[in-house]
Amino acid sequence: MITVAVTGALGRMGSLIIENIGDAPDMELVAAFDIRDIGMPVGVGTGTGASVAAGVSDVRVSDARKINALLASTSPDVLIDFTIADAAVGNVKAAVENGVAIILGTTGLEPHQEEIAGIIAGNVPAVIAPNFSVGVNVFWKLLAEAAAYIGDWDIEILEAHHRHKKDAPSGTAMRAADVISKVIGGKELVCGREGLAPRGDEIGIHAIRGGDIIGDHLVLFAGDGERIEIKHQAHSRQAFAGGAVKAARWVVDASKRVHGMEEVLGI
Ligand SMILES: NC(=O)c1ccc[n+]([C@@H]2O[C@H](COP(=O)([O-])OP(=O)(O)OC[C@H]3O[C@@H](n4cnc5c(N)ncnc54)[C@H](O)[C@@H]3O)[C@@H](O)[C@H]2O)c1
Repeated sequence: MITVAVTGALGRMGSLIIENIGDAPDMELVAAFDIRDIGMPVGVGTGTGASVAAGVSDVRVSDARKINALLASTSPDVLIDFTIADAAVGNVKAAVENGVAIILGTTGLEPHQEEIAGIIAGNVPAVIAPNFSVGVNVFWKLLAEAAAYIGDWDIEILEAHHRHKKDAPSGTAMRAADVISKVIGGKELVCGREGLAPRGDEIGIHAIRGGDIIGDHLVLFAGDGERIEIKHQAHSRQAFAGGAVKAARWVVDASKRVHGMEEVLGI
């Protein structure tokens, strides 16, 4: 049995991940953390419409400020974090201090990336991914392949997410730019354009926010007289939650460093 703790337990992703853990015969939720509604049974009032999954309904939300003590007393195998970037750093530190493997899905981590990798290296295994969906990891692979042939065409990245998403551009769009830049050499990234903006040797990135869009990403390779569009659309957050749970099963036997989702999927 793999024992799991979840931070951001009442969030859109955290509550769905808890539902997945409740449905998994090989997993047990032992702790759930948030900064609000402390003491509430998990799966209640999350706003996701999720049913309280069997086997997790007796776990209550614990105060995230007490994460260190609770990880020590519950000794989970894995901590799954989908919170906000500033909180994620502290949660990673608490996991490392307690020898708990980490699945980190929180985005907007760019300013903290090196610090987090340093804390983890040699101490615990971790999977960090701006997108845990199988489809997006294949999408990144396809982008690298396309860039090898048509990397000299104009390249623009468009992403769309729901109105509540805090960071922009999305971590998935930034990774797409990174994947392409690695193939064709570093390019300047230009986030949005306005006014007189002559094109340089750049990749344009554009973020749209609205409604309940789960997550769309489109990369446009535009040449003279033709174009190719490579697109991924998430239909539901289950795409991410299922991947995070798959990664949690994988990470318990992984080496003590940061891994990517491509290693979990073997692609
Ligand atoms: N990697 C992926 O595949 C993937 C997919 C979807 C979302 N995300 C990212 O996951 C994060 C969460 O997304 P969401 O839509 O669930 O957001 P959300 O706002 O619905 O949930 C975040 C939850 O974290 C809680 N929280 C805040 N600070 C905390 C702390 N210190 N400790 C514990 N909990 C804390 C909030 O109260 C909230 O319940 C975002 O960064 C988002 O971009 C990643």
